[in-house]
Amino acid sequence: MKKIAVLVSGGGTNLQAILDAQASGIIKSGKVCCVISSSPNAFALERAKNAGVPGECVRRKDYESVQAFDEALLNTLEKYNADIIVLAGFLCILGESIIRAYPNKIINVHPSLIPSFCGDGFYGLMVHEKALEYGVKVTGATVHFVNEITDGGAIILQKAVNILPEDDAESLQKRVMKEAEHIILPQAVELLCADKIKVDGRKVEIIA
Ligand code: GAR
Repeated sequence: MKKIAVLVSGGGTNLQAILDAQASGIIKSGKVCCVISSSPNAFALERAKNAGVPGECVRRKDYESVQAFDEALLNTLEKYNADIIVLAGFLCILGESIIRAYPNKIINVHPSLIPSFCGDGFYGLMVHEKALEYGVKVTGATVHFVNEITDGGAIILQKAVNILPEDDAESLQKRVMKEAEHIILPQAVELLCADKIKVDGRKVEIIA
C-alpha cells in the first residue's frame, strides 16, 4: 500500500475525487496519508478533516526563500513517509530538491490538453478563459509527471471535453473537472500506486 500525499491550495474537488475513489475501491493500491495545503483557508483542508485525513499547512510566505519553503515541504512529506505526491490544484512551484527526492513519483493535474494552455502563469479559471479566447472546440485535462519545467513532465493520461457554444469560463471549468479531471486523476493515482506506469523520457507506457 503506497502512502499518498495530496498537495492543495483551494477548493479541493480533485482531492475529493481521490478520497471518493479510495472509498469506492478505484484506488486500492494506495491510501492518502496527508493533505498539505499552501493556504490555511483552503476548503480542501475541511475535506481532509471530514475524511479523517491529517491536514497540514505550509505557506510560501512563512519562508524567506524557495529553498526554505521546499525544505519545510520535504520535512512534512517525510513526517508522513509519503511515497507518492499528487498536486491537486497546488498553486506553488516545487523546487528541485523535492523533485529530486521523488523521481517519477510526483504527478499533477492540469485543466487543459497539454501542450495547449499550460506553463508558467496558466492555472485555474484563466486556463479556460484562454481556451475560449483562442476559440478551440475541444479542451480537456492532463495528468503528467512533475519535473523542473512547469507542466512539462511526461504525460500519463489525457481526456478531451467538447466546448459548447454557450460555455463561459466557469461552465467550462466545471465540465472539465467533472468529465475529465475527476476521472483521470484517480485513475493515474491508482496506476502509479500499483507500479503500472513505465516511463522512459517522454514515453509513458501503461502496463496492463
Ligand atoms: C483544478 O482545475 C486543477 O486542474 C487546477 O486548479 C483547479 C483546482 O481545483 N490546477 C492548475 O491549474 C495547475 N496548473 P480543486 O482545488 O477543486 O481541485
